[in-house]
Amino acid sequence: MRNRGIEGTRRKFTSTVALVTSRLGDASNVMSAEWSLRVSIDPYLVAVFVGYERGSCSMIRESGEFGLNYCSEGQVMLAHIAGNRSISSGDDKWRMADFSTFQPSVIRAPMIEGCIMNLECRVVDEFRTGDHAAFIGSVVEGYHDPSRRPLVYHGGEYYALGERLARPPRER
Ligand SMILES: Cc1cc2nc3c(=O)[nH]c(=O)nc-3n(C[C@H](O)[C@H](O)[C@H](O)COP(=O)(O)O)c2cc1C
Repeated sequence: MRNRGIEGTRRKFTSTVALVTSRLGDASNVMSAEWSLRVSIDPYLVAVFVGYERGSCSMIRESGEFGLNYCSEGQVMLAHIAGNRSISSGDDKWRMADFSTFQPSVIRAPMIEGCIMNLECRVVDEFRTGDHAAFIGSVVEGYHDPSRRPLVYHGGEYYALGERLARPPRER
C-alpha cells in the first residue's frame, strides 16, 4: 500500500536522539535533537540542526561549541524533558530529570552520563537550512560505551534498536 501526499511523510524519518549540550558563561543547557549526523570523515565533522527559537541556538552560536550526547535506550525520560522544556521559558531542565554529567576535556558544555556516545564539538560553520540553523562541528574529543544500545526515534515515538539482519555475501 502506498499513500500519496507530502504531509504523511513528515514523521516517517528514523533517527537517533542526541542531547545537545551548551554552555554560555555560567548557564548551561540541554535540548533533544533528532536531526544530527556525521557529515565528513576527514576532517571529522558533524552537523546539528537547531530551530532559531530554541534557547540552545544562541548559546551554541555565542559559545562556539556544543556537546552531542547520543541517547541510549534507557534515556527516554531525558530525551522527553530536554525536548519539551525550554531554557527560554525559565525551565531548569537539569533539575527535572536525572541528568548526570561528566566534565568535558576540551569544551565547556557539560557531557551527559549513560549515553552510547558523547562528542565534544567546536563550531566551524553555521548556515541557514529553512527554519533551522545548521551548526557544523569539528569533533575535538569523543567517548563511547560499547555496552549500551541506541535509542531510536520514529514517527514521534521512541524505540529500541531491533535485531541485526543477515548481510548479503560480498559481490566479487
Ligand atoms: C525527540 C525530540 C527530537 C527533537 N529534535 C529537534 C531537532 O533536531 N532540532 C530542533 O531544533 N529541535 C528539536 N526538538 C525540539 C527541542 O528539543 C525543544 O524545542 C527544546 O525545548 C529546545 O530547548 P531549549 O529552548 O532549552 O534550547 C526535538 C524534541 C524532541 C522531543
